[in-house]
Amino acid sequence: MGLVEGGHVLVTGGAGYVGSVCAAVLCEQGYRVTVIDDLSTGNREAVPSAAAFLEGDVLDRAPEALADDCAAVFHFAAKSLVGESVESPDIYWHGNVVTSLQLLDLMRAHGVDNLVFSSTAACYGEPEEVPITEEMPTAPTNPYGASKLSIDQIITSYAHAYGLGATSLRYFNVAGAYGATGENRVVETHLIPLVLQVALDAREQIMVFGDDWPTPDGTCVRDYIHIRDLADAHLLAARSNSPGTHRIFNLGSGDGYSVQQVIDTCRDVTGHAIPAVTAPRRAGDPATLIASSARAINELGWAPTRSDLHTIVSDAWAFTSRLGDRAHFARR
Ligand code: UFG
Repeated sequence: MGLVEGGHVLVTGGAGYVGSVCAAVLCEQGYRVTVIDDLSTGNREAVPSAAAFLEGDVLDRAPEALADDCAAVFHFAAKSLVGESVESPDIYWHGNVVTSLQLLDLMRAHGVDNLVFSSTAACYGEPEEVPITEEMPTAPTNPYGASKLSIDQIITSYAHAYGLGATSLRYFNVAGAYGATGENRVVETHLIPLVLQVALDAREQIMVFGDDWPTPDGTCVRDYIHIRDLADAHLLAARSNSPGTHRIFNLGSGDGYSVQQVIDTCRDVTGHAIPAVTAPRRAGDPATLIASSARAINELGWAPTRSDLHTIVSDAWAFTSRLGDRAHFARR
């Protein structure tokens, strides 16, 4: 049955960027929330104060939360660095696939049959065409994407065999901030937070990874989606999950922006010159990734309202400039 008002939701990885915003929105909408996070990459202060917090390994702490009248699980806890996954795939197969499989078994054992899973556009690899629909071939180009795709396949089989009701959401480039929560990673590799650190004078310049891509201005094109719109999709998914069914939805704005356009928007929003230099292409980057979110809009009733680039960057800047000064980032 779909998640009903006031139900208890377990949010794994709820101290991370996406997990903490979803936990905050769940709390605001009157759900009872328990966050599990080992704080290996998340921040304790990102966990909403209204949520119960269990620090530690997901599999160690989940039984306690699942036994407490748990109605649904939002599973975010995962490793998510593409480069690291190429160098140390063991971390991704164990940390993402094995952990998720065991979490699903714990859910079964406790009779919890409602799951929202944090998946990724990396499942598709280099697309043959854009926008990318859910019917297109999945061909991940790195172990990170492969690990998330494998979990999707496990979920499908558990839905058919054991009556799990699940939704996998394949995010494109999530960005922006919501209230006191935004991108605040110890190891930052994402474009928008890095560009905004330049605007804060915490970095000297932004490196543009290639200006000779087959795109209108030669820099890579991505589909940016606002974190708050993304959170809405998770709640809609949990409310409409139905036992025995595994749905997969892409989540993006449907618009592509180049790295150059992102930097220009950051210049507009911050009023900073933001020096940029061209650097070699980054290994594994596809030229263009744009989502078709038609299925999420039609079937989930998802209605993104904040996913234009200017709003995304403005909200991210409000967060980054509040978060810190140069010293905050230099300590990292
Ligand atoms: N970029 C730069 N300079 C930087 C950082 C990024 O030019 O300092 C470029 C990248 O080359 C890319 C674009 O900015 O073209 C966006 O890069 P991000 O690292 O912000 O995001 P990605 O598109 O690489 O990654 C996203 C998700 C991943 C997911 C991947 C799927 O964040 O989790 O899409 O391809 F795996």
